[in-house]
Amino acid sequence: MKIAVLGGDGFCGWPTVLHLSDQGHEIHIIDNLSRRWIDTELGVQSLTPMDSIQERCRIWKQETGKELHFHLLDLAREYERLRGWLSDHRPDAIIHFAEQRAAPYSMKSDRHKIYTVNNNVNATHNLLTAMVETGIDAHLVHLGTMGVYGYSSVGAPIPEGYLDIEIDTPDGKKAQEILYPTRPGSVYHMTKSLDQILFQFYAQNDGLRITDLHQGIVWGTHTEQTRRHEQLINRFDYDGDYGTVLNRFLIQAAIGYPLTVHGTGGQTRAFIHLQDSVRCIELALADAPRAGERVRIFNQMTETHRVRDLAELVAKMTGTEIAWLPNPRKEAAENDLVVENAQFLALGLNPTTLQEGLLDEVVEVARKYAHRIDRKRVPAVSAWTKDIAKRVETDPEGKRLKSAS
Ligand SMILES: NC(=O)c1ccc[n+]([C@@H]2O[C@H](COP(=O)([O-])OP(=O)(O)OC[C@H]3O[C@@H](n4cnc5c(N)ncnc54)[C@H](O)[C@@H]3O)[C@@H](O)[C@H]2O)c1
Repeated sequence: MKIAVLGGDGFCGWPTVLHLSDQGHEIHIIDNLSRRWIDTELGVQSLTPMDSIQERCRIWKQETGKELHFHLLDLAREYERLRGWLSDHRPDAIIHFAEQRAAPYSMKSDRHKIYTVNNNVNATHNLLTAMVETGIDAHLVHLGTMGVYGYSSVGAPIPEGYLDIEIDTPDGKKAQEILYPTRPGSVYHMTKSLDQILFQFYAQNDGLRITDLHQGIVWGTHTEQTRRHEQLINRFDYDGDYGTVLNRFLIQAAIGYPLTVHGTGGQTRAFIHLQDSVRCIELALADAPRAGERVRIFNQMTETHRVRDLAELVAKMTGTEIAWLPNPRKEAAENDLVVENAQFLALGLNPTTLQEGLLDEVVEVARKYAHRIDRKRVPAVSAWTKDIAKRVETDPEGKRLKSAS
């Protein structure tokens, strides 16, 4: 297949590009490299040394003989070029990773909120309308997030996208299927909730074939392909804005930094290893909906964990202390989470679980590149409201440390 990978320079995009190229697909990366610019804005860098996208593509060709095509294009701001590209190249499938994906970054200031909404909603809508306009019949696979559902404890498992309900009508109860209600917990999650409505409309109005993957938090750094050469290494975010919880605990352990648990650590979240994430995309690609079908929604996660249990696991494994810090986010202190993921299991996903351990591998990568870590960038300091900002802990290692166990 000819596949366009939008956001193919990012943390999930790059290993997906290599995985699909390895399988013989013709891959076109479209990316505006905004993530690299955000590193510059924040004054941070990936833990792992990343080469330019052009250099990464050159190394892949050298190692495998397979060509990767890179196109520098902003989906949100260059509509005409996007439409022209689709019309010229007519891909069979499009994988859409190209959004600003950090909840803390989206909550930093009014400017960051506006940027996240403009970037994410316009990128998705430009893509959809360009697909209609060019008349291409590509299967669109989008990366959404489990976070659209919020984290209140409902008790019932979160279904894969849709909920059967009954409505009272004058003629009695009527059955209906609705999108499972969203309850976004940040501006970033809000944009992903809006994406869902855009997909519903274009599938129903124009018969676009769309799969929306509601992904859990991705952990790990390597996949089979990124291990093949030092310069194919994936990006790895550790900072308070872009680093995700389990990867952050692992790098904190590697550099002897207290594991930063927010609040009681009672938040339960869904997780998936990077290798499983790329495999899920392969499975979703092979199972495209037909024109006129509703948007196909998968919960792309393999397990759920409570944050304090993860911290305790990493603390035990590495002998690192835990710092219990005020929570910069506005969220439930404790929640349960039960998620259905039967569709991917039925398609053949064989989950990599935490217990089987790739945890050591991440700690090793972090130790190898520990000299690249700026300890001041480790705390999460982006607060969800002005009131919360007053109590955010900016220096877990300093005198103000409340308690450590
Ligand atoms: N990383 C996770 O744990 C996780 C979890 C759930 C869902 N997701 C979703 O998966 C997708 C990829 O996440 P990631 O961790 O790889 O993020 P990332 O920030 O590493 O990669 C996103 C890529 O998209 C590009 N991009 C952003 N806006 C663009 C635009 N307007 N035009 C062109 N390119 C643009 C960026 O330059 C970057 O290379 C995101 O949509 C995210 O919401 C990620």
